[in-house]
Amino acid sequence: MKKVILVYFSPTGNTRKSLEAMAAPFGGAAEVVDLTAEEAPVRTFEADDVVIMGMPVYGGRIPAVARERLAGLAGKGTRCLAVVTYGNRHYDDALLELADLAKAQGFAVVGAAALVGRHTYGEIQTDRPDEADLAADREFAVRVLSGEEHEFVIPGNRPYRDGGSGGKFRPLTSDACVHCGLCVKACPVHAIADDCVTIADTCLSCFRCIRRCPKGAKNMDTEAYRTFAAAFTEKLKARRENEYYC
Ligand SMILES: Cc1cc2nc3c(=O)[nH]c(=O)nc-3n(C[C@H](O)[C@H](O)[C@H](O)COP(=O)(O)O)c2cc1C
Repeated sequence: MKKVILVYFSPTGNTRKSLEAMAAPFGGAAEVVDLTAEEAPVRTFEADDVVIMGMPVYGGRIPAVARERLAGLAGKGTRCLAVVTYGNRHYDDALLELADLAKAQGFAVVGAAALVGRHTYGEIQTDRPDEADLAADREFAVRVLSGEEHEFVIPGNRPYRDGGSGGKFRPLTSDACVHCGLCVKACPVHAIADDCVTIADTCLSCFRCIRRCPKGAKNMDTEAYRTFAAAFTEKLKARRENEYYC
């Protein structure tokens, strides 16, 4: 293999962490295409490269915005691992969708994984991916990329279910905001105006701004959200395990 390239959309970092774990046994990623920040990357990867491609699950699909950002990436039969991370509910058709997209763009999907990460909302699997998850990710990557290739079936349905849009919550901004502009720059879809406060309707509800704000000023501190989050946390409390396919 010439080099390992990571391609991900990862507003809150779960997907990035797992992909980095998969690249680690090969000396880490030689290149990263971060679709959270890069909106229209154009690259063609070589036949002897390996691309590890990862997305979060939004409503049982991959985020529509991430799907669009993948459009300029092409393989030449390049080996690819398709990875989705999800918040312990389910990944539904997202893994199948990602693998289908990768194949359509010239990648040979030799392995796939559906991994549990902390859910964006509520307090669900808050420590995941944990060390055991990341160890399993590393072991999987070595097994797939160093071993023989096999036929495998990825769960999911075609046509895919509806999904892939953002959520309905719009982060609030407290008086603790010092207008540093970090959230404006970090927002993957430019939904935060220069005043750091005004949130456009393009907001995905990805909570990247909430997790990144150094002052804790971005928040979802409303009664409606707290009520939803408590019920959602209770509903999804049973731990799900990662699934690896190759
Ligand atoms: C708008 C939205 C929709 C989501 N839909 C699902 C879902 O259908 N199933 C699920 O288990 N988790 C869902 N999640 C949780 C994320 O898939 C999960 O936290 C993911 O690991 C986040 O990846 P990231 O940290 O790389 O951004 C959703 C999160 C958001 C923001």
